[in-house]
Amino acid sequence: MQIVSYIIYLLASVLFIFGIKKLGSPKTARQGNMLSSIGMFLAVVITLFDHMIITYEWIIIGLIVGALIGSTMALKVQMTGMPQMVGLLNGFGGGASALVALGEYFKVDNPAFEINIIITVVLSVLIGAVTFTGSMIAFGKLQGIVTGKVVKYPLQNPINILLFLATLVAGVFLVIDQTHSELLIGIVAVALVLGVLLVLPIGGADMPVAISLLNSYSGIAASMTGFVINNNMLIIAGALVGASGIILTLIMCRGMNRSLMNVVLGGWESAGSSGPAAGDGTQKPHKSIDSEELAMLFDAASSCIIVPGYGMAVAQAQHAIRDLANVLESKGVKVSFAIHPVAGRMPGHMNVLLAEAQVSYDKLFALEDINDDFPNTDIVLVIGANDVVNPAARHDKSSPIFGMPILNVDYSKTVIVNKRSMNVGYAGIDNELFYLDNTLMYFGDAKGAVTKLVNELKEL
Ligand code: TAP
Repeated sequence: MQIVSYIIYLLASVLFIFGIKKLGSPKTARQGNMLSSIGMFLAVVITLFDHMIITYEWIIIGLIVGALIGSTMALKVQMTGMPQMVGLLNGFGGGASALVALGEYFKVDNPAFEINIIITVVLSVLIGAVTFTGSMIAFGKLQGIVTGKVVKYPLQNPINILLFLATLVAGVFLVIDQTHSELLIGIVAVALVLGVLLVLPIGGADMPVAISLLNSYSGIAASMTGFVINNNMLIIAGALVGASGIILTLIMCRGMNRSLMNVVLGGWESAGSSGPAAGDGTQKPHKSIDSEELAMLFDAASSCIIVPGYGMAVAQAQHAIRDLANVLESKGVKVSFAIHPVAGRMPGHMNVLLAEAQVSYDKLFALEDINDDFPNTDIVLVIGANDVVNPAARHDKSSPIFGMPILNVDYSKTVIVNKRSMNVGYAGIDNELFYLDNTLMYFGDAKGAVTKLVNELKEL
């Protein structure tokens, strides 16, 4: 039986790896999800045959309750609520790992684990508890229950470092004398506080990065727990989550041209704000256009690149945008979509929304594949995007987004920017694109504005 379970675990691990690989492209993401789910199903089923299981009652109750809660949450969650849902699930993962490790420790009266096992008990409890409370705060920030602002207080970092060192020292003493259960309880208590203190300073809008990092932590905690209960599947699956979580975190940081430290230590004070642009209060001159004039402009165009951003997600304008692309194509206009790696608020945000609206994948182009096409494009339509098209990132060394790769929309013949006002985006800074000679502002909520444009185009 043991050999069968090893083989199935190996098969499940291979399915996870291929699943993750396929998740790398929107075209194959569904397949990847399916492969990973089959892997997880096989792993769970084979684990249920483990000879260590004495009774199935609690397992069945857990399966039913968990499946009911999980499927209800998955069915109800809005696309824009996805980051906090992932945050919540990470927290549960970390909490579960910590509880399993605690259970293993307290199940014997006189603990005398091998040294590698007791070390992984400590690490699993420490990382799992930090992940649990950290993820709860991340969830609270995104849900608006906890302040989304960057929270700073005196001696913040020294206090955190001190608390972390205290858990490590307690861990070392526990490894030396395993009977001191109060040390493990102390580690849990401090780690729970540490989770809150580490995530509290991070601005609400930086939460997707924090959540991806916490996802990685939850994987590491699970992997440690795999060592504690001697389960290879948990070790491998946890390591995969840990590694992919950290890679995704770094990709997001690179997309914003920021270091992980800058995000974790409460980077942009202004991040996530949405008020008017900072300055002397006087609005700089800009040109605007209405739907009728815009339809006429499009009627004369032969190529168009649509650049979606966070505003498209907020307005749920993806279906209207698909209709626009269809109408333009029926009039002989070549339409492509330019997707910035950190457009929106989570990785792949734009791809998922456009896929939901049945926009064909071969029309979506990543930044590096489309940036050279802007100079040869008649009209670029920016829908609810701001920072990812701000030319200041290319030349203004004083800008917080300096160095962030951007879509060079300003190089095209005409840029139309759709948003509701001249307000700033996530980075809290003014956008010089709005004042360029070749830019026209098309004000309005993305869904309504695009629908109006589609109607005008149909009437032409
Ligand atoms: P933002 O810079 O946040 O700008 C979005 C714009 O959408 C706003 O300026 C807003 O202007 C407009 N908007 C809001 N609601 C709208 C509506 N209903 N209709 C039309 N427009 C609307 O978005 P972006 O260009 O997509 O950039 C993303 C930012 O998020 C980047 O700075 C990035 O670093 C950051 N970020 C991204 C991620 C990931 S992984 N994607 C993670 C963390 C941070 P009005 O208020 O005037 O309408």
